Parts: sequence; C-alpha cells; structure tokens
Amino acid sequence: MYPLRRNRRLRTTETLRNLVRETTLSPNDFLVPLFVVEGKGVKEEIASMPNYYRYSLDLLAKEVKELWSLGLKSVLLFVKVPENLKDNSGTEALNAEGLMQRAIKTVKDAVPDMLVMTDVALDPYSIFGHDGIVSEGKILNDDSSAILAEMALSHAKAGADFVAPSDMMDGRIFEMRTLLEDEGFHDTGIMSYSAKYASAFYGPFRDALDSAPVDKKDVPKNKSSYQMDYANREEAIKETLMDIEEGADIVMVKPGLCYLDIVRDIRNTVNVPVAVYQVSGEYAMIKAAAEKGWLDHDAVVLEQITAIKRAGAQIIASYFAKDVVKLLS
Ligand code: PBG
Repeated sequence: MYPLRRNRRLRTTETLRNLVRETTLSPNDFLVPLFVVEGKGVKEEIASMPNYYRYSLDLLAKEVKELWSLGLKSVLLFVKVPENLKDNSGTEALNAEGLMQRAIKTVKDAVPDMLVMTDVALDPYSIFGHDGIVSEGKILNDDSSAILAEMALSHAKAGADFVAPSDMMDGRIFEMRTLLEDEGFHDTGIMSYSAKYASAFYGPFRDALDSAPVDKKDVPKNKSSYQMDYANREEAIKETLMDIEEGADIVMVKPGLCYLDIVRDIRNTVNVPVAVYQVSGEYAMIKAAAEKGWLDHDAVVLEQITAIKRAGAQIIASYFAKDVVKLLS
C-alpha cells in the first residue's frame, strides 16, 4: 500500500518550491518610514532602532534617491519637532514652512515620482506627547479632528500625495476628506490607520521622535482612550468600515505580527487596499536577538514580512524595506 497523495512531491526541489509558492515579495509592496530632523548633514542613529536613522533635509534627499534606485517608491514621513515649537494644540503642524512641509518638498524635488505619504497626528508637536489636544485629563476629540484636517490640508498644499492620519480620533477621516475636497485636493489620498492598537511595541518610535506621553498631573499616561484595546477584534472591523465610509482610500492595521488575525479578518471584509505597519518594537526585537546571535536576522525578517503579506497585507510599512529589497535581488 502506498499513499495516493504525496504532498512532499511539491517540495522536492528549489525550482518546484518556487513554482508553487503562494506569496512572494516585491519592492512595490513597501512603504518606507523616514524620520526627519532639523539641521544640516545630520544622520543620527536611533538608539533603540539600530541601523535606522533620522535625517536632516539634505541627507533625506540623498536617502530617497537611494530608495528609488532600489525600487522603493513610496515613503511615509515623520518629523522630530524641536521642543520649543511644541504646544498643546500643534500650532507648528500648520506652519507652511514647518519641517514636514519642507520635507515633502525636499522629497518631491529630489525624486519627483516618489509617492509621498505623511503622518498626520499631533504627538510630535504636542508638549504632552498626545495625538490630540489635552484638556482636564482628557483628549478632546472634535477640536483635535478639526486641527488634524487643517494639518492634512497643509501637507496636501506642500505636495503630499497621501495623508496618513495615525491619531485614532473619531470622525477625522470625514473631516479631512471634506476639507480636502472643499479646497480642491480631489486626488490627495487618505491612508487611515483605521485599526491602530494601544501597543507597547511603539516604544522605540517614541524615542525616535521624542513623542512619548509625558508624566504630568492631568495628562493621561497612555493612549488607551483613543487607540484600541488589543483584546478586541470586532472593534477593528467596525473602525475600518467606518473609515472607509468616511472616505479612506487605504486602511491600515498596526502593529503587524501580533495582529495578523485582524489583518485577515479585514482583508476578507473590505475591498480597499489593506496596509500593515510592522512597527518599531518589532524591528527592535529582531535587531536585539540578532545582535546576540540568537536569531538569523535575514531569515527572520523574510519570514515575518512574508507572513504579513500572506495574512492579507497589500502594502507593508517596514523599517526593513531596504534589507528585504537587497535580499530579494
Ligand atoms: C503616533 C504614531 C506612532 C507610530 C506611528 N504614528 C506611535 C504612537 O501611537 O504612539 C508608531 C510607529 C512605530 O512604532 O513604528 N501618531
């Protein structure tokens, strides 16, 4: 007696495995997060994100040219705002000559076809490190949304192709879409961080931008009153469907690895592109284990990112984008 079906037959050679592989990665899958600082000639490594840097505008231009030459054609911009420009309502975020607005122009001047997405949230601009306005121990929703919409408009005016609200205020997608339409920015897209969880994996990112919630009386210690509870699943679908109704072009799940069940749920539920953000803590964990010699860096990176795509992500924001593209070629 022999088995009638031998599944191992399809695994016999590398060529055959390549032929039947269900998920493959391409440079087109990636969105590259970039951190920008004031100054000239600045390329500073982020302590908790080895081999990842903040760039001043001159070196940002150089970096995006390199990304383009590697086939990486979409970037997601974040700025580290000088302390003296921070306040409670993100005034500096609306400055037409602010760091983000100049960064957008810098990228477009360096590589005109690069797709530029921008982070829209108050935390890098907030003296309290929150994504919205703080008042009497709470984060104001509607007042924050109004400012976020103005911020999105300011990015669109500076040349952003997409705005990416990462704040999780209610109704902000509607607010943004309406303002962008009113002002004639019909083609400026919105990638909503629609299912963003209150996660401990954002730690290194908050180091990178110096944007962690401050420890002060009447300032919430964490972001749990707006980001989602990681115990919840149905809620992610509700959030995502509402953002699509309000006008989101692309939706996102964040973080990545711990949330692949959510990614699959959403992929099976919606018909807009789904993005996943493999966040700073996920990056740091791999770097740390690899540094100790406990994990094979490249193998683990490819496995995790392939898993994110297999789960249903069409777009992957990852600090490993350059590594992956180099590994693929
Ligand atoms: C804040 C924002 C965060 C990230 C992207 N936008 C952190 C937070 O919510 O505190 C995290 C990205 C990462 O960890 O890589 N609006």
